[in-house]
Amino acid sequence: MERTLVLLKPDAVQRHLIGPILTRFEQKGLKLVGLKLRRFPLETIQKHYSDHAAKPFYKNLVSFMTSGPVVALAFDGKDAISVVRTLVGKTNAREAAPGTIRGDFGMSFSNNMVHASDGPEAAAKELALFFAEEGDLVDWEPVDLGWTYNVDEELA
Ligand code: CMP
Repeated sequence: MERTLVLLKPDAVQRHLIGPILTRFEQKGLKLVGLKLRRFPLETIQKHYSDHAAKPFYKNLVSFMTSGPVVALAFDGKDAISVVRTLVGKTNAREAAPGTIRGDFGMSFSNNMVHASDGPEAAAKELALFFAEEGDLVDWEPVDLGWTYNVDEELA
C-alpha cells in the first residue's frame, strides 16, 4: 500500500469542483485518509514547491496557491501514487486526455486544478507538510476492500 498527497487548487475550489474531483478518486477505489480545507500559510506553499524555487513560474505559482482556499487530501491504495497521477492527467489541462480530471475539467497549464505527488519521496515530504498534526491522518478499513482488490493476490 502507498499513501499520496493531492491538493485541490484554488481554481478547483472557486469553480465548485471539489465534489466532482473527489468523486473520481473515491470511485476509483482509493481510500481517503486525510481531508483539510485551508488557506495554507505562504511558508507551507513555498516549502511545498521548493523544488521549483528557481523556475520562472515559481512566483506566480505561489501567489496562485495562496490566493484562496486549497483542499489537501491524502489517499491510500496499491500503487496509489501512479494511480492518482494517471487519474489527474497531463500538467497542461488543454493536452490532458479525456477521462482524466484535467482533461475533463480544465483548459489551463497553471490553473490545472490538482496537484499530485510525483513519487514516494515527494509524497512523504508533502504528506508531512500538509498533515503534520496528530490525528490529521485517519486509519480505517473500508468494508468493501475485499471487493475492490483480490486481497490474497494483491494485498498479501
Ligand atoms: P503541479 O503539479 O502543482 O506542480 C507544479 C505546478 O507549476 C504545476 O502543477 C503547474 O500548475 C505549475 N506550472 C506553471 N507553469 C509551469 C511550467 N512552465 N512548467 C511546469 N509547471 C508549471
